[in-house]
Amino acid sequence: MPSLARVLVLRAWTVLGIETSCDETAAAVVRGRAPGPGEILSDVVFSQLEEHRPFGGVVPEIAARAHVEMLDGIIERALAEAGCRLGDVDAVAATAGPGLIGGVMVGLVSAKALALAGAKPLVAVNHLEAHGLSARLAQGVEFPFLLLLVSGGHCQLLGVEGVGRYRLYGTTIDDAAGEAFDKTAKLLGLPYPGGPRIEALARGGNGRRYDLPRPMRGRDGADFSFSGLKTAVRQLVLSADCNAADMAASFQAAVIDILTERTRAALGMFRRDFPGAAAPNFVMAGGVAANGAIRAALAALAQENGFAFKMPPVKLCTDNAAMVAWAGLERAQLGLFDPLDAPARARWPLTA
Ligand code: KG4
Ligand code: ZN
Repeated sequence: MPSLARVLVLRAWTVLGIETSCDETAAAVVRGRAPGPGEILSDVVFSQLEEHRPFGGVVPEIAARAHVEMLDGIIERALAEAGCRLGDVDAVAATAGPGLIGGVMVGLVSAKALALAGAKPLVAVNHLEAHGLSARLAQGVEFPFLLLLVSGGHCQLLGVEGVGRYRLYGTTIDDAAGEAFDKTAKLLGLPYPGGPRIEALARGGNGRRYDLPRPMRGRDGADFSFSGLKTAVRQLVLSADCNAADMAASFQAAVIDILTERTRAALGMFRRDFPGAAAPNFVMAGGVAANGAIRAALAALAQENGFAFKMPPVKLCTDNAAMVAWAGLERAQLGLFDPLDAPARARWPLTA
């Protein structure tokens, strides 16, 4: 580690974070030092759900416009609730991608303006890294750990060695898990976002009623596929006598089987790569991790395989700015700052 970084890592940092990559306009102030846990001084999230609901999904143009209208007020509130002014923070962090490019630009440009006006360093945060490090913010999880990142746009299994250091074990070859939830919900006539609706409906359903496929089962590696599952649901829904609760439960059971089987393969890959750890950590993060049935299944899998299961609280699973502030804080402590012309990126994989 460079000596400057060693000096920086000694003290706690206070970071303002901004998140605008999808349909949440969010700002937060977080204080702490790696490996966490950190202190969330404020965490303001404005969900644009109502704006997008009539369209059954997120409309990028509407999202960008809503971010423009809301963001200044959200940042002011985040600073006020944290009891600080811009001058009190040590750095400004914003999601710089991946995500809907219009929204990402709104957040990143605001962060640049604040950094310039306040003479603060800027950190351009990868949204996936923000999800990935959220368990460190919540619980102070040490590196390395196995990460299952399951959200509306992503479904990946990664070995996390450190900030910016990832090994990709598996990724989806088509839809993300959250996307599958949202599309299945739409087929069942449920509003966006589908995940929480399906989870609620599944509680009263029979998960063995419909025999749905488990794509990629038994294949080498730890890649995922969900599009065949969605197609099977569509065909059954179009047939006359589909029971919505049984379908929701059968769909969720299939997702649980897919996630556990693929994660089991990745646990083995992680053990091979990091043989030293006696009880390594397995972290689940991203919006789909809010699902209680999925959480229970993966916690059990981790326990059976001698891994410690770690997860941020539900509020930190779905999109928020506290995780962005924290990822910014971890990067700042390593001296990883970004220039004021840092680009907004629609695509930005964690592993190049
Ligand atoms: O992480 P997130 O807020 O945004 C992205 O970065 O994508 O994840 C949103 C996704 C949506 O697809 C939503 O349906 C899903 O997370 N989700 C859930 C649940 N809550 C949110 N999926 C399953 N069960 C839930 N309880
Ligand atoms: Zn996200």
